[in-house]
Amino acid sequence: MPARARLPARAAAAIAASWAEAAMYLCLCNGLSDTRIADAIRQGARRPRDVYAACGCRAQCGRCTASILGVLRSASSQTSPSAKQDR
Ligand code: FES
Repeated sequence: MPARARLPARAAAAIAASWAEAAMYLCLCNGLSDTRIADAIRQGARRPRDVYAACGCRAQCGRCTASILGVLRSASSQTSPSAKQDR
């Protein structure tokens, strides 16, 4: 069996960092990533339909709606006054 080449530590760290920054697709029908959805929320989207509209699309199968709601709730809890008081 041939010896396996080891990746230099710096290269391994760079690859690991790029994977950590990689977008995760939450809506496969419309190709919406978590970063795209977060951008829509930063621009004012407050409901899933707002997110779709901000991204120039509409819900297709609707399987992503719960995930988008989760992102919306997470963003809301991070910006609500009670969340800031808890810090
Ligand atoms: S996965 Fe988003 S509409 Fe289908």
